[in-house]
Amino acid sequence: MRNKVTVVGAGNVGATTAQRIFDGGYADVVLVDIVDGLPQGKALDMLESGPILGTDASIVGTNGYEETEGSDVVVVTSGIARKPGMSRDDLLLTNMKIVTSVVEQTAKFSPNSVHLIVTNPLDAMAQQALKITGFPSNRVVGMAGILDTARYRTFLAEELGVSVNSVSAYVLGGHGDTMVPVVESTNVAGTPVSKLIAPKRLEEIVQRARDGGAEIVNYLKTGSAFYAPSASIVQMVEAIIFDKKEILPCTAYLQGQYGISDLYVGVPVKLGSNGVEEIVELNLNSDELNALRKSAEAVQELVEVMAGAQ
Ligand code: NAI
Ligand code: 2OP
Repeated sequence: MRNKVTVVGAGNVGATTAQRIFDGGYADVVLVDIVDGLPQGKALDMLESGPILGTDASIVGTNGYEETEGSDVVVVTSGIARKPGMSRDDLLLTNMKIVTSVVEQTAKFSPNSVHLIVTNPLDAMAQQALKITGFPSNRVVGMAGILDTARYRTFLAEELGVSVNSVSAYVLGGHGDTMVPVVESTNVAGTPVSKLIAPKRLEEIVQRARDGGAEIVNYLKTGSAFYAPSASIVQMVEAIIFDKKEILPCTAYLQGQYGISDLYVGVPVKLGSNGVEEIVELNLNSDELNALRKSAEAVQELVEVMAGAQ
């Protein structure tokens, strides 16, 4: 029997994610959206690509949650995306309400699932999803670090004229302006990146990675990135479904690790069929550790704003 993945939100990120999973052929997909006809039309269109792609997986679109019953993974992308001039944090209270209403339903119909949260502001939305689902924290995880790290690796590979596969790096912290590219452990086939790129240029690349989401928003004007985000989500979905136990930068609930408690922050985790199976504690230098804690403070501020609004 194939695994079952629900994707909530049939917009740019959700539909592209559903397509990538359907194309893979390893899971049946349910695509949910509040807009009548949108998930049904997109799902049917994808289903009709099956004979060409050679996949017998199923995909259905719906405005309800009955069809999502028994999902192994639920991906939450429903919400508003930012426009030029908006920060991810400007989305907070609108998306808090949307995520709340969605995960009440998905948790009810798929009580044993791993919930993968994508809606921004990501870290705060993961915190809200944990609260509303009542799931153990290993089964509520956020996507951001893979995307932020992919951007950082892309720019480094371009700068050095090497394959992206030769660049190893982690971007930690919240998915926002305070994210923390861990420069000290970034390496190109084992050589520290600080030996290959001058400090000023390296700082420019780090800053471009931090601003990676805004760079795309400024080009698109009517929405935000979705190709690299959906590829990042699928890497997580596959790690969970195939129990890969892959170490990936994800947004996870910290309970004392890195000196941070009761908060979702981006850190390396071991991702497998039980969701977050381990939080990996890197040996950060004091500057990086301070930056991670500062980033956590920015997440905490959003969590407090949400608490005041509920
Ligand atoms: P979009 O506007 O293309 O799609 C959002 C979809 O959510 C729309 O189709 C809308 O009808 C649906 N929706 C709204 N309320 C709903 C509800 N109550 N139930 C079901 N569906 C509902 O936006 P896009 O580009 O797909 O982005 C989605 C979210 O993902 C945004 O909040 C965006 O900021 C976030 N995002 C996060 C990333 C990350 O790294 N964590 C990366 C990219 C986007
Ligand atoms: C991004 O980083 C919008 O958070 C999204 O592209």
